[in-house]
Amino acid sequence: MDSRYGNSQNMPVRKVLRMGHPLLRLIAEPVVDVRAPEIQQLIVDLRDTMHASSGAGLAAPQIGTSRRVVIYGTGAPNPRYPHAPVLPETVLINPLISPIGSTMQPEWEGCLSVPGLRGKVQRWQHLRLEAIDAMGQRIEREVEHFEARVVQHECDHLDGLLFPDRLESIPHFGFIEELIASGEIPPIPA
Ligand code: NI
Repeated sequence: MDSRYGNSQNMPVRKVLRMGHPLLRLIAEPVVDVRAPEIQQLIVDLRDTMHASSGAGLAAPQIGTSRRVVIYGTGAPNPRYPHAPVLPETVLINPLISPIGSTMQPEWEGCLSVPGLRGKVQRWQHLRLEAIDAMGQRIEREVEHFEARVVQHECDHLDGLLFPDRLESIPHFGFIEELIASGEIPPIPA
C-alpha cells in the first residue's frame, strides 16, 4: 500500500490510519527476514512518521503495513506526553511479552490512530519482553511502568487491538481538552 505523502525520499512520512480502518483490526504477519529491504524501509518510515506525529510509539499496521514491527521512544521529551519518562528509541520485531507478577496499573493513554482522545487503561506493571531488533539481534529484557505500558499498547496493535478495547469504563474515555479542563489529566504545554 502506498500511502506516502512525504515530499522527500529522506523523510518518508506516511499517513497514520485511524480507528475504523479495517487494516488496524488484522492480526499482523511475522517478519521472516529482518534485513529484507522492505522491512528496513518500513523501520525508516515508522521512525520518520513517529517523529513527524510526536508519537510515543508507532506500530506498522498504523501506517498501513500489516507486519509485526513496532517502534517506540524518541530519546527526547515528547510534546504529547510531557510528563512521561524519556525512552531511548527501540525497534521490536516479532515481539513476545509476558507479565511478571500480577500487578496492573490504570493510567490515561492515547494513540495516533485515535486522535484527540484519551482513555484510562489497565496494563501489567512489569513485563518480560523478547523480540528481534532492527539489526536482527535478539532482545531479551524486562520492562516496567511507563515503558511496559507503551510496549503493551504497541504490541496490541499487532493483534488488531486499540486502547478503547481495553477501557476500564466508558466514563474514563474522553477528549483531551475536556479531560484537561476537568483536571483528569495534566495540561499539555503549547
Ligand atoms: Ni497506538
